[in-house]
Amino acid sequence: MNGPTVVVVGVTGAVGRVFLQVLAERRFPVGELRLCASSRSAGKELSVNGERLRVQETTPDSFRGADLVFISVSSGISRKLAPIAVEAGAVVIDDSSAFRMEPTVPLVVPEINADDVEWHQGILSIPNCSTTQMVMALYPLHRANPIKRVIVDSYQSVSGTGAAAMEELRVQSRQVLEGEPTKAEKYPHQIAFSVLPHIEPFLENGYTREEWKMLEETRKIMHAPEIAVSATCVRVPVLVGHSEAVHVEFTHPMTPAEARELLAAFPGVRVVDDPANNTYPMPIDCVGSDDVLVGRIRQDASHPNGLAMWVVSDNLRKGAATNALQIAEEVVKRGLLTRQRAQKLAARMRAR
Ligand SMILES: NC(=O)c1ccc[n+]([C@@H]2O[C@H](COP(=O)([O-])OP(=O)(O)OC[C@H]3O[C@@H](n4cnc5c(N)ncnc54)[C@H](OP(=O)(O)O)[C@@H]3O)[C@@H](O)[C@H]2O)c1
Repeated sequence: MNGPTVVVVGVTGAVGRVFLQVLAERRFPVGELRLCASSRSAGKELSVNGERLRVQETTPDSFRGADLVFISVSSGISRKLAPIAVEAGAVVIDDSSAFRMEPTVPLVVPEINADDVEWHQGILSIPNCSTTQMVMALYPLHRANPIKRVIVDSYQSVSGTGAAAMEELRVQSRQVLEGEPTKAEKYPHQIAFSVLPHIEPFLENGYTREEWKMLEETRKIMHAPEIAVSATCVRVPVLVGHSEAVHVEFTHPMTPAEARELLAAFPGVRVVDDPANNTYPMPIDCVGSDDVLVGRIRQDASHPNGLAMWVVSDNLRKGAATNALQIAEEVVKRGLLTRQRAQKLAARMRAR
């Protein structure tokens, strides 16, 4: 096999476009590459490694002979497409929330729980972008000193909502600056020059679905069902890059110096923490990088076993595209792609 046949669904979206860049940067071995989106994008051309490829409408035929299918569409559409791709013999890496909490679906951040890819049954999920960067900062500390409780407030960029929300922020910003009336479509209120304490629908318990994902997904990825998490997720008028103020309560005290050392030694985390020189992570510094940046590490004045920190990451890269490709790399490295295809072929032979 020269390389797997790879299908990218949602290739015209905010994540899909970055995914193509990451695919080229990481030199992921690809035999055939198929670019798919909705019928609206059929016929558009995108450049991959200097080659122009045409986008196709996603149909069941898109998955014929595919080995790996990356899906970056809404969860409702993922729910329909992923089982068709698995049935066609592919391994699916899904970016949506559709399957994340299903017990048969590994939810993976490879630096933390790469071994979970071993028990996949065709679909693997990436976490929500706000969860990924938080667990990247929590896990190295948790291994040394188990975490009991996390309070997190997020400052999430509009690209977390997708390409159309990025355009809405651009248009609204211009409208506000030119004194024109604004129109809110992707959010319930104007996002330009404002902040919205509202990401995804409200649940009966008063949290939003985004906030609840940060609790449930953290527990699943870190294999730590006892960790308490309370999140407030806020949308801010930033194009790319999510920020989080994270307050952690450990089992025992941990000094900021110890935390810095543990974080600096963890792959994919970069400590940016020199407040005396106004040096701390900011979204403008994380764009285009796969690192999760951590700074403002300090003792939490409200608890003897507490630390506070500020965590920033490119939500389209480590929060989505890069993490998805890292999962695929694990699947390929461990020979799980061929096993998936072999099992499917065997099942079909038996059914004949
Ligand atoms: N944005 C992030 O930071 C982030 C992070 C982690 C996970 N995710 C998840 O990743 C997924 C994609 O997010 P996004 O931000 O890239 O959204 P987006 O910018 O809105 O892109 C959506 C993509 O879905 C395609 N699509 C729509 N209907 C389709 C259909 N019926 N069949 C095939 N493709 C269809 C769109 O194609 P057209 O252009 O043809 O309409 C577009 O390529 C979502 O589930 C999101 O929750 C996003």
